[in-house]
Amino acid sequence: MKTGNDVAIIEVGPRDGLQNVATFVETAQKVSLIRRLADSGIKEIQAGAFVSPRAIPQFRDMKEVAAGITASPKIRFSALIPNLQGAREAVKSGTEKLIFFFSLSESHNLNNVRQTKEASLKGLDLIQKNLAADTPAEICVALATVFGCPFEGYMTTDHILKDIDKIANMGIKEITLCDTVGFANPRQVEEITVACLKDFPEVAFAVHFHNTRGLGIANALRAYDVGIRRFDTAVGGLGGCPFAPGASGNVATEDLVFMFNEMGIPTGIDMDSLLKVSTFLKEILPGVILSSAVYQAGLPKTQISWPECGAPGGNPPFPAHQDW
Ligand code: COA
Ligand code: ZN
Repeated sequence: MKTGNDVAIIEVGPRDGLQNVATFVETAQKVSLIRRLADSGIKEIQAGAFVSPRAIPQFRDMKEVAAGITASPKIRFSALIPNLQGAREAVKSGTEKLIFFFSLSESHNLNNVRQTKEASLKGLDLIQKNLAADTPAEICVALATVFGCPFEGYMTTDHILKDIDKIANMGIKEITLCDTVGFANPRQVEEITVACLKDFPEVAFAVHFHNTRGLGIANALRAYDVGIRRFDTAVGGLGGCPFAPGASGNVATEDLVFMFNEMGIPTGIDMDSLLKVSTFLKEILPGVILSSAVYQAGLPKTQISWPECGAPGGNPPFPAHQDW
C-alpha cells in the first residue's frame, strides 16, 4: 500500500477495452498500442488475457502479443488468467504479473469462467502451489462484481471481507476490487475500501471502476481520499465484460490522469502523449466511440496549468466563491 500522494495508473485498455470490441485488432496494432501507452509514462499495462479463444476471440493471438512486447524489455506487462492452464501459458510468454480473476457473486462467476467460486478458489490455490515457487512472476487477484452483480445485485461488506480473507490467506498481496457493471457509488466505495484497508493492511488494494452510470470518476476520487493509490483505467474509456449484461466502458485513462495531474497529484504520465495514444486508438478502431471526456473536449487552453497556479492549498486562478 502506497502511503504518499502519488498514484499508480494501471492501463487495462488492451485487455478490458479490447475484449469487448467485436473487430479483431491485428497483433502488430495491439503491440503498438501497448508501446505507445508505455511511452506516455504508464508503468503497468494489462496486455490481454490467457483465456479460451472461444470465450474471447480477441485474445487468440495473446502469445504473439506477449512476444511482441517482451521485445521491448522496458515495458512491464500483466495479463488476466482464469486457471492453471492460462497461468502456465502466461509464464511461458514472459508475463511479469499474473492476475487471477473470478467473481464475488456465484452467478457472474458461472457465466464468466463457467465454474463455481469454490472451483475458482481451488484453481487459485493450485496455481499458488504449482507455480508460485518456480516463477518470478507475481500472482495477484482481480475480484469482479465487488460493488454489485448484474444477476445478484449488491454484495454485503461482510461477504466481501470474508472472500478477501480467503484470498489473503493464500498469500496474495495485491487485490483489485472491481465494479464490473458500474453499480458503485462514492459512499459504498468509502465503506468497502476503508474496511478492506483496515482489515488487510498487508494487501495492496487497487480499484477498477466502470463508468456505466457516470460515477466512475467520483468513485475513484472517493477511493483516493480514503487511501487507495492504485487505479485501473482504460484509454478512450473502452471496456466491459462480455459475460455481464449491461457492461460498458471503464473510467477513461485520459480523464483520471487529467484529474490527478490537475490536482497536483503525481501520475508520471504525460497528457499530450496520452492523447496521441487516444488518436491512434481511434485510427485502429474507427467505428468505436471513445467516451473519454478529455479526448472529446481536448485540454483547456491555458498558459499554465491549475497546479502551477498555486494549488493545492494555493491561490485559485479564479475569484473566491463569494465574488462570483
Ligand atoms: N487458455 C486457453 N485455452 C483454455 C484455457 C486458457 N486459460 N483454459 C481452458 N482452455 C481451453 C481448453 O484447453 C479446452 O480446449 P479444447 O476444447 O480445444 O480441448 C477448452 O478451453 C475447454 O476447456 P474447459 O476447461 O472445459 O473450459 P470451459 O469451456 O469451461 O471454459 C474458461 C472455462 C475459463 C477457459 C473460459 O470460460 C474462459 O476463458 N473465460 C474467460 C472469460 C473472460 O475472459 N471474461 C472477461 C474478463 S472479466
Ligand atoms: Zn472491467
